[in-house]
Amino acid sequence: MGKLTFFVNGKKIEVNGNDLEYGTTLLFYLRNRLHLTGSKNACGQGECGACSVILSNFDHHLQKIRHMTVNACITPLYYLHGCAVTTVEGIGTPRDGLHPVQESLVKSHGIQCGFCTPGMVVSLSCLLRNNPTPTKYDVERAIEGNLCRCTGYRPILDSMKPFVDCPLGENCCKLETKKLEGDENISEYKTIDSTQTVIFPPELKKWKPPNNKLLLSFGLTTWIVPFSMEHLKTAWTENPTARFVAGVTALGKLIKGSEERSSCFISCHQVGDLQKMSISDTGIDVRAAVTFSAMEEFFTKAKETIKETNRLQILQSFLDCIRWLATDQIRNVATIGGHLACQGNNLDMIPLLVALDATVNLMDITGTIHKMTVEKYLSDEQRVKELILDIHIPFQSEFQSVMFYKQPKRRGYNGIGVSCAVVLGITQEGIVRHFTACFGGFTQHLVKVVLSDDLFDAERTWKSLSFANLECLLRKGFTEEEVDVKEELLLLSLGFMNKVQTSIDAQTKEERLPIQTQPEPCRSNIVFDSAPTEQPQSDPVWRPIPQTTAEDLVSGQAMFIDDMPAFQNELYLCLVLSKMARAELVSVDWSGARDSPGVVDCIDHTSVPGSNMWGMIVSDEELFASKEVVYWGQPVGAVIAKTREQAELGAQKVRIKYQEMRPILSIEDAINSDSFFDATISRCRGDVSKGFTDSDQLLEGSICTGAQEQFYMETIGAIGVPKREQHELEMFVTHQSPAFIQKSIAATLGIPINRVIVRHKRTGGGFGGKETQPVKICAPVALAAQRNCCPVRGILTRKEDLTITGKRHPYLFKYKVGFCKGGKIESLHVKVYSDAGCAQDLSLEVLECTVDHLEGCYSIPNVQIEGRLCRTNTISNTSCRGFGVPQAYVAMETIIDHIAHALNMPAKQVQEVNFAKTGFVPFTKLPVEDTTMLKAWHQCQEQAQYAKKEAEVAAFNAKCKHRKRGLAMMAVRFKIGFDLPFLNQGNALIHVYLDGSVSLSHGGCEMGQGLNMKLLQIASRALGIPLSKIYTAENSTQTVANANSTMGSCTTDMMGAAVLNACKELLDRLQPFKEKKPDATWEAIVMDAYVNRISLSVVGHGSPGDGGILYYTFGAACSMVEIDTLSGEHQVLSTDIVMDVGKSLNPGIDVGQIEGAFLQGYGMVTLEEWKLNSSGEIECTGPNNYNLPYVGSLPNDFNVTLLSDCPKEQTVYSSKGIGEPPLLLAITVHKAIRSAVLASRKDKGLTEYVQLDCPVTSTKVLKVCSDSVLT
Ligand SMILES: Cc1cc2nc3c(=O)[nH]c(=O)nc-3n(C[C@H](O)[C@H](O)[C@H](O)COP(=O)(O)OP(=O)(O)OC[C@H]3O[C@@H](n4cnc5c(N)ncnc54)[C@H](O)[C@@H]3O)c2cc1C
Ligand code: FES
Ligand code: FES
Repeated sequence: MGKLTFFVNGKKIEVNGNDLEYGTTLLFYLRNRLHLTGSKNACGQGECGACSVILSNFDHHLQKIRHMTVNACITPLYYLHGCAVTTVEGIGTPRDGLHPVQESLVKSHGIQCGFCTPGMVVSLSCLLRNNPTPTKYDVERAIEGNLCRCTGYRPILDSMKPFVDCPLGENCCKLETKKLEGDENISEYKTIDSTQTVIFPPELKKWKPPNNKLLLSFGLTTWIVPFSMEHLKTAWTENPTARFVAGVTALGKLIKGSEERSSCFISCHQVGDLQKMSISDTGIDVRAAVTFSAMEEFFTKAKETIKETNRLQILQSFLDCIRWLATDQIRNVATIGGHLACQGNNLDMIPLLVALDATVNLMDITGTIHKMTVEKYLSDEQRVKELILDIHIPFQSEFQSVMFYKQPKRRGYNGIGVSCAVVLGITQEGIVRHFTACFGGFTQHLVKVVLSDDLFDAERTWKSLSFANLECLLRKGFTEEEVDVKEELLLLSLGFMNKVQTSIDAQTKEERLPIQTQPEPCRSNIVFDSAPTEQPQSDPVWRPIPQTTAEDLVSGQAMFIDDMPAFQNELYLCLVLSKMARAELVSVDWSGARDSPGVVDCIDHTSVPGSNMWGMIVSDEELFASKEVVYWGQPVGAVIAKTREQAELGAQKVRIKYQEMRPILSIEDAINSDSFFDATISRCRGDVSKGFTDSDQLLEGSICTGAQEQFYMETIGAIGVPKREQHELEMFVTHQSPAFIQKSIAATLGIPINRVIVRHKRTGGGFGGKETQPVKICAPVALAAQRNCCPVRGILTRKEDLTITGKRHPYLFKYKVGFCKGGKIESLHVKVYSDAGCAQDLSLEVLECTVDHLEGCYSIPNVQIEGRLCRTNTISNTSCRGFGVPQAYVAMETIIDHIAHALNMPAKQVQEVNFAKTGFVPFTKLPVEDTTMLKAWHQCQEQAQYAKKEAEVAAFNAKCKHRKRGLAMMAVRFKIGFDLPFLNQGNALIHVYLDGSVSLSHGGCEMGQGLNMKLLQIASRALGIPLSKIYTAENSTQTVANANSTMGSCTTDMMGAAVLNACKELLDRLQPFKEKKPDATWEAIVMDAYVNRISLSVVGHGSPGDGGILYYTFGAACSMVEIDTLSGEHQVLSTDIVMDVGKSLNPGIDVGQIEGAFLQGYGMVTLEEWKLNSSGEIECTGPNNYNLPYVGSLPNDFNVTLLSDCPKEQTVYSSKGIGEPPLLLAITVHKAIRSAVLASRKDKGLTEYVQLDCPVTSTKVLKVCSDSVLT
C-alpha cells in the first residue's frame, strides 16, 4: 500500500490511506487535520472559490514549475501526490509579513466580512506568481471563480492596480488608488518580493514519477494513481470493474456523499502519455487527460504559427468555448476526456466536437482500440466503461468556417447553459456547400441540423436560409416533456443563427454584433472629502482607515465559528428535513439513524423541554414539525453523531411517511385559495376616487418581484458548550441578533435567559438573513448539547442553508394610477401582496416598510395602499437588506416608467415633476425638509453626463437593430430609524485596564459592514487616545445585555451614541485626575484614578431619535445598459452614484457599502432567480444554479461620489447610515433594460408597455424582444 506524499506551505506531509476517511477532500484535510482554517467552506461544491489554494507541481517535460488554483472542497486528497499546496496561511501572515497582495487588499478596503478574502488572496497571488505584470483583464479573469457578496469587487480590483501593467504609464489610475487612502500615514504599496513566497520544495523538483503506481485504500475504496500507460493497463487488468477518473470535478461531488464505497478508481491525471497534444495536417489531437487550461495555453500558442483561416477558426472556436467553460479553478483540473465521458449533451464542448465531426479513440480492457465519432460515442452507453485515449478534431475544408456560442445564465461562473456550434462551408459566390449546426444545453438531447434541401432555396445561397424550416427541424429535436424549455432554446438558437448570418453578411457590418457578450474591465472613480486639514492626524474620524482586523482576515487567521478548534468529546448535529411542501406526518422512523455508526442521539419535537414554537414578533413557527410539515425542507428532527459525516449519514436513514396535501406555492395560488395571514397594512391620503376623476389619463398594471437569497458567504452555524451547572450553556452562533438568539434558546430549553451566553466574534455576511433564521440551527444545537452533556456543533451546508432559511419576500403589486398631461400623478391605488411563506416571522414589519416607502421619493396627493400577507407552503420569508423598501421602489419606478411611456415623455421628466417638496409628510411620518436629494440628483446628472448619454443612446438605437441601449436615473429617500422607539437604543461597555488599554464591547454584530471599526474611531476621538489603544474582542450577551438586532442601517447610530455616552462618563470620572496633573499621560491618569478607587468600567446607553425615526439618507444614480436582443444578455455600460452619507465616519468603508449594496441590488433586479419546482422543492442549491453577481457583472464604468457639504444631522459626528439605501439604486438597471427593450419593440411597431418582472433575466428579455429575432 503506497504512501501519499505532498507538501503544504513547504511542510512535507505523508499519509496512509487508512489514516483517512472515505472521500477526504483537501479542504477537509487542511481544516480538520492540519488546522489550517484560512481556506473556507462556503459552498462545498466547487462553485464559489472560497476554498481556493495554489497547487504547484514540476513539469519534467518543460522543466518548469506550474502553479494553478484549485477548489480544495472538491479536490480529493490522493490528487496531491507529488504536489505542493500553498494555502492563504503560506502566502503571508501579520507575524511573518503580509504578501503585497494582502497588504494591498487591506489598504484598498477590499475586505468586508472577509469570508471570501482568503480565496481572493490565493487567486490573485497565484496570478502574480505566473504573471508578475498582469493586465486588468487578467486580474478580472483570475477572480471570476471567486464570489464576494459584500464588496462589489471594485476595491478588490483596485487592490491590484499597483501590479497591473498599464499602458497609460504615468497617467495610470494607480495614483487614484493612493488618493483613496486620503492623507493617512499609510506606506507605499509593497512590490513583490520573491524571497517571501513559499519556495517550491526542491525535493519535488527531483521527484520523478515513481516506477510504481500509487495505491491508496480508504476502507473499502481503492484509489490507484498510475504514472504510465503500462501501469494503468496493469492496474485495470487487476481491477476490471475499476472506474477511470481524471480531474474529478464531475465525479468529485458524487464521491463525497456516496454510499457506494466499495469501488476502485484509477486516476489518469498523472499518466504523461494521456496529456499530450499535437497539430498535424489532418487536424488536432488531444489526449484524454489534457486539462482545459492546458488546451487553452496550447491553442493560444498554436494560433501564432498557423496561417490558414479555417484552421485558425477552429482553434478560436475552442478558445471561445473554453473561455466560458466553468472557472480557472475547474479548468485547471477538468479534462477533455472526463468531459466527454460524462456523455452529457448539456456540456459546453460537446456541440462543438459533434459539429466538427470529431472522433474518439477508446481502449477496452484487452487493449483493443476502437475509433468512432464523438456523436456515436455519446449515444453508446456500453462504451462508458472503456478508456478514452484521445480525441481527434479534423480540419475542415478550405472554405469552412466555425462559430461557437454559449449562453450561461450568467457569465463568469459556468451555469451550464445553451451552447451552439455552427460549421459552415460557403463559396465566394455565397453558395452553401456545407452546413452543420449543433445545439446543446437545455434538453436531454443534442440537437443537430445538417444541410438539407428545405433549409435553403434551390440555389443554396446563404441569404436564403429559411428560419421557419430551421425552427421546424429544431422542434423535431425536442420531446414533449421539454415543452417548457423549448421556446427559449428555439429563440436562442434562432437568435444565434441570426448572428451568424449577420456577421457573415458584409452589409450589416456597421452594427457591432458580437457573437458573445464579453465584459470589459471595470473603470472606476471614487470621490469623497478628506478630513479637514486642521484635524489632528491622531484623530481617526472621517478618515478611510482600514479595519483593524483586516490583516487577520486577509491572512486567514481571523476565526469564524466553524474555524474554532473542536472541543473535547464534541458531537455533530445534522438536521432531518422534510421532503414534502405540505403533508401530514404519518410516522417518523428513527431506528435506521439510531443504528447507524457513530450516532449518539436523535431529537424531535418531543425532545423539546421548553417551547417548540418560536418567532421574533409572534411565535408561530415550529422548531421541529410535530404533526404537519408546511414547507419543503422543514426540520423534522436532528441526528447527533460523533462526526459530521456520521451525522449526515444517520440523517439520511430516517424514514418519514407523509400524507400529502396540495401545497400553495405562489402569491397567485394564495390569492386564488384565499390563503392569507390576518394582519394587514393599509395607508390612505386624500380622496383616491376623486383623484382618478380629476386625472387626464388612467393606467392599470402590475409588477412582480421575486424572492432573493441573502447569500452571505458564511453559512449559518452554531456550537453549544454545556457548563453542567444550573443549566448554564455557552453558545457560539453566526447571527445578527444577540438578545433574540439568546431568548429563543432559553425558551426552547425552558430555562431563564441568564443561563445562556451567546458569543460572537464576527459573521461572514448577514444581509438580514441572520436576524431570526439562526434559531433553526442554534436551538437544536443547544438542545442536543444540554441532553448529551457534550459540546455540539451544527453548521449548515450551503444546500441546507438555502433550503431552510427565509429569503427576501416576493411581491405582487397591482396598481391603478391617474395623472395629468404634464406627468404629475394625481391619484394612486395599489394592492400589495407579499409572500410571507409558512409563518409570519418579520413579514408584517417588512410589509409596513414596503407600504410606507411605496411612494418612493415622490409626493402623491391621493393615495390608497392595501397590503396583505399571503400564507404559502414555502420557507417563511424574512429580513433581507432593504427590508421591503427595494420592492416598493421597483413598483413605484415601474409606475413612473409606465406613465412616461403613455405620455411619450422621458421618465426623468415624470420623476422630476413628482419629486416631494419641502414640508411634505410621507407615510414614513418624517417630514421632508430641505433635502440633499435634489443636490444628489443634479450632481449625478452632471457626473454621468446624462444629456450626452441620452443623445448617444438615441443615436445608437437608431443605428443598431439587434442591440439596444437604455438609460435611466432615479433618486432614493430611505428612512433610517424605527417607528417603535424601543428599537432605537444601543448599549456599550468600556473597561480601561491598568496599562491604559481599553476594551470596547457593544451590542452590535460585525458582519463586514465595518461597525467595529467605526465605533473604535468614535471612541478614539471621544477619549482622545490613539486607535491602537482600543480593542473590540467580541460581542457577547454577557457583556452587553438585551441588544437589538443589527439591522436597518442604523446600528452605528445606536451603538455610536452609546459609545459616546460611555466615553463621556469615563472622561468625567477621569477629569479630576487630569486637572490635578494636566501633563500626565493617559496611562498615568488611569492609574491615578484606579488608586483612588474610581471604577474604570462604564456602561453607556444611547437612545437617539426621540420620536423614533432619525433621518433620511438620500442618493441618486444613473445607469446605462446595452442589451443583445438575440440572446437577451445585457451589459451595464456605466453607473454613476452620488450619495449623501452626511460626513462619512470612514469613507473607505462607506464607499464599499455603497458598491456592495448596489451589486446586491443588481442581482435582485437581473440575475438572482429563486426557483421552486412544482412540488415546492428548491431548485437553487448553490452558486451553480443561483446566479450571484460576479466580478464581470460590474458596470464598465462605475463611479461613486460621496456628496460634499451635507447638512449636519444630529447624528454621531454628522454621519449617516448607509448599509441599505444604495441597494435601491440598482433599480436604475431594471429601468434602463426596460427602456432598451421598449426601443427594440418599437422598431417592430410594438408600442404597448411591457411589465418586465424582477429579476429581469436574459430569458425574459429574450422573450419580450423575440418578435424581432427573426427579421
Ligand atoms: C463547479 C463546476 C463548474 C462546471 N462548469 C461547467 C461549465 O461551465 N461548462 C461545462 O461544460 N461543464 C462544466 N462543468 C463540468 C465539467 O466540464 C466536467 O466536470 C469536467 O469536464 C469533467 O472532467 P474531469 O476530468 O473532472 O472528469 P472526472 O470527474 O474525473 O470524470 C468524469 C467522468 O468521466 C469518466 N472519465 C474520466 N476520464 C476518463 C477517461 N480517460 N476515459 C474514460 N472515462 C473517463 C469518469 O469515470 C466519470 O464518469 C463544471 C463542473 C464543476 C464541478
Ligand atoms: S467552498 Fe469550495 S468552491 Fe465554494
Ligand atoms: S468580503 Fe467578500 S464575501 Fe464578505
